Amino acid sequence: MSPIIIPVETFDLIVFGGTGDLARRKLLPALYHRDSDDQLPEASRIIGISRSQIDKEVYREQIEAALREHITEEHIDEATLARFLGRLDHVTLDAKQDTGWAELAERLDGYEERVRVFYLATAPGLFGAVCQKIGEHGMNTPACRVVLEKPIGRDLASAREINDAVGKVFAEEQIYRIDHYLGKETVQNLMVLRFANALFEPLWNATAIDHVQITVAESIGVEGRGGYYDRSGALRDMVQNHLLQLLCLVAMEPPTAFAADAVRDEKLKVLRALKPIKDGDVAKKTVRGQYRAGASNGAAVPGYLDEIDGGESRTETFVALKAEIENWRWSGVPFYLRTGKRLAARTSEIVVHFKCIPHSIFNVRDDDIEANRLVVRLQPDEGMEMSLMVKEPGPGGMRLRPASLNLSFAETFKVRYRDAYERLLMDVVRGNPTLFMRRDEVEAAWTWIEPVITAWQEQREPPKPYTASTWGPSAAIALIERDGRTWYEI
Ligand code: BG6
Repeated sequence: MSPIIIPVETFDLIVFGGTGDLARRKLLPALYHRDSDDQLPEASRIIGISRSQIDKEVYREQIEAALREHITEEHIDEATLARFLGRLDHVTLDAKQDTGWAELAERLDGYEERVRVFYLATAPGLFGAVCQKIGEHGMNTPACRVVLEKPIGRDLASAREINDAVGKVFAEEQIYRIDHYLGKETVQNLMVLRFANALFEPLWNATAIDHVQITVAESIGVEGRGGYYDRSGALRDMVQNHLLQLLCLVAMEPPTAFAADAVRDEKLKVLRALKPIKDGDVAKKTVRGQYRAGASNGAAVPGYLDEIDGGESRTETFVALKAEIENWRWSGVPFYLRTGKRLAARTSEIVVHFKCIPHSIFNVRDDDIEANRLVVRLQPDEGMEMSLMVKEPGPGGMRLRPASLNLSFAETFKVRYRDAYERLLMDVVRGNPTLFMRRDEVEAAWTWIEPVITAWQEQREPPKPYTASTWGPSAAIALIERDGRTWYEI
């Protein structure tokens, strides 16, 4: 099945952090793929911004090397690569200084009619200053948008400060706060599953659902991002955004349309209905961990402290927590979330555990009839799996066992799975903010997370250690087992 490619309008994309890790690993490879699908108009330009004293030729060489590193060989087409590199330009600029801005404004001069996207792939502390300069140099045109990479701040106050500063220059409709999880195919499929099938909605509530688990497990460590990560930790880096967004999509009421504010209004209601985790509950409802050295496939894996170059750190690389939503639909249905680095496998999934049947008519113990389970696999091997009880074939009486209906998207559709950034970047150019976070959502998420951050800071205990390439500290198992449930085995 071949995808339908709808070309976008001609645009200029200005990437702050143009030589950084995100640009090299994700943004430029995503744009290359869009170019190779002929989605980018011929005249579209990409201007990388960095402090490096390099010209456009050197920038092109650097990006070519990054593309060859991050795109599989079968997808590199030399003619497309040459065309794509031809779009690239570079401006040397220090966001905190005055130099370079006039030069950038000059490059954009005469292109005011075009869609213009400023992508801020920098530390969030720079967002306000960069936007102010964009405004001062008259670069905020009517068709201009600004993309803010997560994290937006490190707590509620700093998030508000950033949102205020950006809001002085850009209207809310121009601001695209990216959470790349919303661009993942299976995450969007979650909405399709819920709202394009009549089957699930009547069961999607506390009457039929026992609990929900959301796991985002990574096998990698901090990968050279130790400086950023050590100031952030898993709660800020993953839970405040990615995991809460997934929770919102599972828990939200049906929006009236798949339209930006309709969807975001419903997500916001979920965030606002999250039961605050009070000081006294933090120890019961949350677990934080940090990995120690271990081994994977016979090879030694360093511990977190070694990866960030020794020293002391209480930064968590693992979080498990129990979230509760105080509304009619979800009353009494816990959402267990867990995420961590250096876990046993890279896998992300949402598991909806239905309730057990009320009474068995078969001559087996009630416990032998497993409750139904819907697994939405975000990565790898995107797909969905529904477990059902079935009769084992053949004689021997009515023997029951669970079996699953398994839908693998790769097998069903046989297409290359597009990276989330490909979809999201094109959405920005099209001016469609449905899959981006609105200011009130980000702030509501921080409001819920902040008491946990504060309680952890005040705790004397360091994060619980866990061995790299395992499933995290045993306290995470205890967190769910206290409620008589277990983590779904991946
Ligand atoms: C990023 C986090 O937002 O998401 C990283 O900053 C994390 O720490 C990454 O590794 C995970 O994304 P994905 O798409 O690989 O699951």
